[in-house]
Amino acid sequence: MRQRPENEAALTFLSRSSNEGFARTAAACFAAQLDPTLDEINDIKTAVSEAVTNCIVHAYPDALGKILLRLRIYGRDTVEILVKDSGVGIPDVDKAMEPLFTTGNEERSGMGFTIMESFMDRVKVRSAPGKGTAVTMTKRLARRIGGGA
Ligand SMILES: Nc1ncnc2c1ncn2[C@@H]1O[C@H](COP(=O)(O)OP(=O)(O)OP(=O)(O)O)[C@@H](O)[C@H]1O
Ligand SMILES: [Mg+2]
Repeated sequence: MRQRPENEAALTFLSRSSNEGFARTAAACFAAQLDPTLDEINDIKTAVSEAVTNCIVHAYPDALGKILLRLRIYGRDTVEILVKDSGVGIPDVDKAMEPLFTTGNEERSGMGFTIMESFMDRVKVRSAPGKGTAVTMTKRLARRIGGGA
């Protein structure tokens, strides 16, 4: 997206699983200024939860690392969410994004990226092995009739 964001916020936090709820709620609070529906808020929370969980579980498997959550608003209705880590990276992004593909244990179903793609309009993944992964997700929210002046 080339135009300048109308608003932006960023948070950095450690890859502790207790921060997954923090990140999800922070994203929802930031998106609230666009007057989203409850469904839209839940979609954003779910997508952020999947992306942040991937950083916690896969990017930093044996150590704590830093995760960046950057939230942007474009125009009157579009939210862009970047979740970035400096962890192990993904050797083959196309393969990793296929439904049911997982390198995780039996607790993982390989559906995280598929869930992000189904709840957001666009999901872009950039990754370099040994350097980290950046997941950028955008969602255009429905115009609310009578909402806001
Ligand atoms: N931030 C990341 N860093 C390194 N590898 C990642 C990252 N995110 C995803 N991956 C890789 O992509 C695979 C697919 O991720 P996806 O979220 O779709 O499934 P999963 O995490 O394995 O399972 P689920 O999300 O259903 O619990 C992961 O198994 C992992 O190999
Ligand atoms: Mg996952």
